[in-house]
Amino acid sequence: MKKQAVGQSMDRVDGRLKVTGAARYFADHQPEGMLYAALVCSTISSGRIAAIDTTKALRAPGVADVVSHLNAPPVPGYKLENPNPKQGLKIFYDDRIYSNGQPVAIVVANTLERAIHAASLVKVSYNQEVHQTDMAANMDKAFQNKNMKDYLRGEADAWKKAPVSVEATYNIPIEVHNPMELAGIIAHWETPDKLTLYAKTQGVKSVQQTLKNLFQLPEENITVHSQFVGGAFGMALRVWPMEVATILAAKKIRKPVKLVLNRKEMFTLVGYRPAAMQKIGIGATSDGKLTGITHEAVAVTSPYEDFTEAIVSMSRMMYACPNVNTHYQLVPLNLSTPVWMRGPGEATGAFALESALDELAHELNMDPLQLRILNHADIDPEKNLPYSSKYLKEAYEMGAAKIGWQQRSNTPRQLQENGWLVGYGMSSGVFGAGRGRATASATFKADGSLIVRSAAADIGPGTATAMVQIAADATGIDVKKIKFLLGESAYPEAPRQGGSSTVSTVGSAVNDVCLALQHKLGELATTGHPAFKNVQIADIKYEDGQLVAGTTRIGYTELLQQQQLPEVVVTTTSQGGEERKKYAMYSFSVHFAKVHVHPATGVVRIKHIVSVADSGTIVNTKTARSQMIGGVVGGIGMALTEEALLDHRFGRFVNNNYADYHVPVNADTPPTDVLFINKKDPVINPMGSKGLGEISLIGFAAAVSNAVFNATGKRVRDLPITPDKLI
Ligand code: MOS
Repeated sequence: MKKQAVGQSMDRVDGRLKVTGAARYFADHQPEGMLYAALVCSTISSGRIAAIDTTKALRAPGVADVVSHLNAPPVPGYKLENPNPKQGLKIFYDDRIYSNGQPVAIVVANTLERAIHAASLVKVSYNQEVHQTDMAANMDKAFQNKNMKDYLRGEADAWKKAPVSVEATYNIPIEVHNPMELAGIIAHWETPDKLTLYAKTQGVKSVQQTLKNLFQLPEENITVHSQFVGGAFGMALRVWPMEVATILAAKKIRKPVKLVLNRKEMFTLVGYRPAAMQKIGIGATSDGKLTGITHEAVAVTSPYEDFTEAIVSMSRMMYACPNVNTHYQLVPLNLSTPVWMRGPGEATGAFALESALDELAHELNMDPLQLRILNHADIDPEKNLPYSSKYLKEAYEMGAAKIGWQQRSNTPRQLQENGWLVGYGMSSGVFGAGRGRATASATFKADGSLIVRSAAADIGPGTATAMVQIAADATGIDVKKIKFLLGESAYPEAPRQGGSSTVSTVGSAVNDVCLALQHKLGELATTGHPAFKNVQIADIKYEDGQLVAGTTRIGYTELLQQQQLPEVVVTTTSQGGEERKKYAMYSFSVHFAKVHVHPATGVVRIKHIVSVADSGTIVNTKTARSQMIGGVVGGIGMALTEEALLDHRFGRFVNNNYADYHVPVNADTPPTDVLFINKKDPVINPMGSKGLGEISLIGFAAAVSNAVFNATGKRVRDLPITPDKLI
């Protein structure tokens, strides 16, 4: 048998295309006759548009049109909705302004420069109303919608009776998606009812579905191409109003139109991690057994949509604690709608919970790692189910050894190196290991090549590479002869790339379609090949691209040639089954950080990171390691630098650019050790792989904050941990 492909450190199948610039991202496409768009965005944060003067803009050179609520083609899907105001922003629908930066018009011209210039000539006047963008000042408006259920296990607020307890409030600011590739879309109406899109998306089928509903078109009339995506992290999980605006402009002008946002617009038009205020009460016996956790969270949403995520979920299930209650509310502000951002709500919740555990350990004068081990959940305390797999204790051990945890003192401010205070901190992370439904097709050609297709997305983790490895092991065909194609709405249905579930979901479909392909070849052999005339299909084995029955062997290629078939195509749908009801399925991570803090300036330098993942089988050790490092970099941003600042007088972001919104750069990123448990989950899917993308970030900010406390004795509960908070 061949060496297994799964588990290898294989180079990316599209690596060369990416580094040579041959990979085509959405904005690289150029349909014939394409025009360029620029947005005119609201300069007020609440109110109504009084008038839009487009006279000068329309006279500017090269301008095709200015489209707004005054002249936009109707969106039939908007009309069908009931008048519930919480159904998202209906772009160019009426004169209402809900937030600063909301698009009020789109200007289309024959060059980008002309579109931008003409957009500057559009004069909009407003009837301004009072806006609200300050969460702290609007806590009286906090509400729960019908999906936001309180949780109670055992007794509510039991921590208050505990011999040792901590109560604290943790704040995270708005964090904004800042992938290198800007958002946008190219919209092309090939006929009045046939739409082609080049999109930046985490799911071509989901875009197709949304637009099918909005424009009341048959699915097959909408084609979405999105082969390469330059980073998304959650911002491309939905269709945004500015994309609909571009589609409307293209419809009105009857030419393909391209919109690419500028960096400033990325702060207002493609969601953000919502600011959240979280209160944790946590109590334990004097020897450290948890007796109660109360987790209350309030997060920001827009006026026109309730965005919820799993902020309080980790507190319910992570530790063996008999009494847990959670409460989660939203505060609507004059901002656009938030969206998932890597590790979504769990990362927010983990910062609070994992900081509170560190504070409790300090009160107990206990090693915070020991506190976690002591309260390890052997079964899921929320679902009361066994885990499909859980190697968290091993992860704690591996990480502690690697970072040198024994050097840490329980008393803060004990260690120094070269005049810097030294601290060690750790945290746990967890994320549900999902498996959804996906379809894949496999085309085996007489030349021996295999092409697997599924409408999956790749926002950077190396999806096609992993899928080729899975297909190679399922078929015994060499990886060099296999292609995995994704990012086309015409391909078999796959879900969005989100929630760390692509390998599990799409990988299972790839595995299953490869097995189905071999079965089909077996059928062809038993019905048509003389050597297999007396062989039962059940007795055929499939090895290294050959059909084997006893001493008879024929290659798949040879079979197709003998049958005079140019190719064989099989399509299979795959999804998880009953196992979900019997097991709790989670990926776990442990993050360790060693930090230096300068005693005079409060500057924090992360010196060493160790991140350990229990995420089942690692399909590709190289891309998985990159994925973990990416999460760590995001985590450093969350911990130390990222914060979108609003000027509440105007409801406007003031640091809406790469210079003032600090995304960690190489100099901020220390040596990072990524360790994998790499043990197969026996239940979740044929590969035994759990998710990886989210747990790389979840908990990370708390590990840094806990390390800063260990170094300085100062507890920073408001992210990011900037120097001013430490001096
Ligand atoms: Mo992820 S936040 O599900 O893209």
